[in-house]
Amino acid sequence: MPSSGGAPGGPAANQPSDLPEDVLARLRTDIPSPARTWNYWLGGKDNYEIDREVGDATAALNPDLVPLARQSRRFLIRVVNHLATEAKVRNFLDIGAGLPTESNTHEIAQRAAPEARIVYVDNDPMVLAHARALMRGTTPEGVTEYIDADYHRPQQILAEAANVLNFSQPIAVMFMGVMGFCQEYETVKRIVDETMAGVPSGSYLVLWDCTDTSEAARRGTEKYAESGTLPYILRSVEQLDALFDGLEKIDPGMVSISQWRPDPAEGEPVHVDGYGAVARKP
Ligand SMILES: C[S@@+](CC[C@H](N)C(=O)[O-])C[C@H]1O[C@@H](n2cnc3c(N)ncnc32)[C@H](O)[C@@H]1O
Repeated sequence: MPSSGGAPGGPAANQPSDLPEDVLARLRTDIPSPARTWNYWLGGKDNYEIDREVGDATAALNPDLVPLARQSRRFLIRVVNHLATEAKVRNFLDIGAGLPTESNTHEIAQRAAPEARIVYVDNDPMVLAHARALMRGTTPEGVTEYIDADYHRPQQILAEAANVLNFSQPIAVMFMGVMGFCQEYETVKRIVDETMAGVPSGSYLVLWDCTDTSEAARRGTEKYAESGTLPYILRSVEQLDALFDGLEKIDPGMVSISQWRPDPAEGEPVHVDGYGAVARKP
C-alpha cells in the first residue's frame, strides 16, 4: 500500500484504485520503482511498501544515501536559480524529472523568471499521474509541460520539447541523478551528446550522478540491484567528466554536488558520492 497523502502539496489520492487506467496498466508494485524509492529517500509520501523496504535495506548499507538525495535537491535549487537569475536561461528540459517534491524545477525557475518555460520528461507511470495534477506552471506568463518518454529516445524528446520550449534561445538540459539507470556507458554518452547536439549554442548541460567513490556506495548499489529492479550503475568521476567533452564547465567544475557553489547559510558542505557539473555549449 502507498503511504497516505501525496507529495508535499500534492494530491492525496495515489492508491492504485484511484489511478487512471493507462497509468494502472503500467504500474508495478512488486518491484521498487526508481522514482518512488527516490521520493521515499527525499522524505515524500508517493511510494509503496516495496519502495520503502528496498529503500531502507539499501540505506542501511549506505547511510549516505538519504543525505545524498537531500543534497541533490539543494544542488538542483542552486543550479536552476543560478541559471535563471545570472545566466538568464528561460527554457529548462528536465529529463528523468522524478515525482514532484519540495522545490521542483518549474517553481524555482519561475520564481526567478515568471516567463520561464519548463518541460519535464520521465517514463515512470506514477510520475505521469502526478505530473498531470501537479507539474503546472506557477505563473500566468510561464509554461510547464510533461512528456511521458524514455530518455533512450532523445530525438523524440527534442521534437516534443520543441512544441513548448523556444529553441531559438538557450536551453538548460538537466540529467539529475538519472543516468545510472542507463546500463551501458556508451549509451549514456550517446544520449547526452545527441541531446546537446539538438539544442542551440549558449545552452547548458546540468548533469550529476552517483559515483563509485566509496565502498558504502558500492554496497548500497549491489543491495538495490537484488530487488529485481533495474540496477543502478555507479560511474567514475572521470566517466561523468567525459560527458561534458566539448562544453565549457562553469566554476567550480566537476565536484561532489554538495560542493557546487554551496550556500553558506546551509553550513559546511558534507561530501556525498554524487558528482556533477554545469557547462555551457559554445
Ligand atoms: C533518482 S530519480 C531522480 C529524480 C529527479 N531528477 C531528482 O533529481 O530528484 C531518477 C528518475 O529517472 C527516471 N528514469 C529512469 N530511467 C529513465 C528513462 N529511461 N527515461 C526517462 N526517465 C527515466 C525515473 O523514473 C526517476 O524518476
